[in-house]
Amino acid sequence: METNSLLFLRAVQLAVIAAHELVGKNDKNMLDQKAVDIINKLLINNDVKAKIAIGEGELDAAPMLYQGQTFSHQQAIIIDIAVDPIEGTVPASKNEPGSISCIAIAKLDTMLQIPEMYMEKLFLSKELGAVIDFSQPIENILETLLAIKKNLSCIILNKPRHQIIIKTMQKLGIKVKLINEGDVLGAIDVVLKQADFLYGIGGAPEGVLMGALAIATNYKMFARLTAYDQVWPNEMETKVRMEIEQRALAHKKINYDTVFTERDLVTDEETMFFAASLTGGTILKPLQIIANQYVVHSFIGYNNIYHQIISKYPITNDAEDLLNQYSK
Ligand code: FBP
Repeated sequence: METNSLLFLRAVQLAVIAAHELVGKNDKNMLDQKAVDIINKLLINNDVKAKIAIGEGELDAAPMLYQGQTFSHQQAIIIDIAVDPIEGTVPASKNEPGSISCIAIAKLDTMLQIPEMYMEKLFLSKELGAVIDFSQPIENILETLLAIKKNLSCIILNKPRHQIIIKTMQKLGIKVKLINEGDVLGAIDVVLKQADFLYGIGGAPEGVLMGALAIATNYKMFARLTAYDQVWPNEMETKVRMEIEQRALAHKKINYDTVFTERDLVTDEETMFFAASLTGGTILKPLQIIANQYVVHSFIGYNNIYHQIISKYPITNDAEDLLNQYSK
């Protein structure tokens, strides 16, 4: 890729440094904004020839990092970006584990652009993935997996919609790790061998990031969009959300039964995935301040290899100083 790829590592690292001052202060929007601002500025300052494929939403909902936004004065855009400036804003605002900043990059127009909606996702190793028929009910899929590996472990979001399948897994003898938020970090933890698979319904934009993670680290993913009314049948906005979803699906000629693999979500074998930990997971430790330095744990996936990186940044008055120092 022509653009300096390590710039995106810097972007997620500066995002968690910028958001750090708001960890545990119960203001998830402001915390997210800090990360959005710094990524946005870094990409503009470096004239990055990229377009946001998955970001903070449509232009009317998000003035920065919105779907379709570009950063360069030059015409030649060559990269798609999927970005979640802070994935897990709630745990970060409560100073609980589970929040990261993440970005995936791929060649232009290779990422599936979908609106913010729900997606059912299964993320697992290539070996386990080889036996999956995702059109089968999940109970059958679990039986199939258990036939090839007895001691299975799963990471799943602890949401009301998952309580029945969580009980089923436990009855089948699967070791379940519940997470409150942050299923992209859950998928990273699968790559880091903390569980055999991640399953559950979460955000579709996060699904595209997971697809990139799967390609970049030689993992496997299956996914299917989930209708809003399946998750929230009786909310005020349910009808409107359903109309928006159905328009978007008709436009893309897909439906709620369409099964996606990671290669339908991102059609670029050279996609790269970057994450930096804010409040962290099991292996990716939370951002810490030690001896006047920010210690940031990051993860890069590219070309079937992943890297865990510990970076040390000098403490500055605010993250803007770091931005000025590291923009070029
Ligand atoms: P944010 O990026 O909005 O903080 O998303 C956190 C998250 O937990 C995702 O990891 C997950 O995919 C999604 O929310 C689940 O959505 P919901 O909270 O509506 O169940």
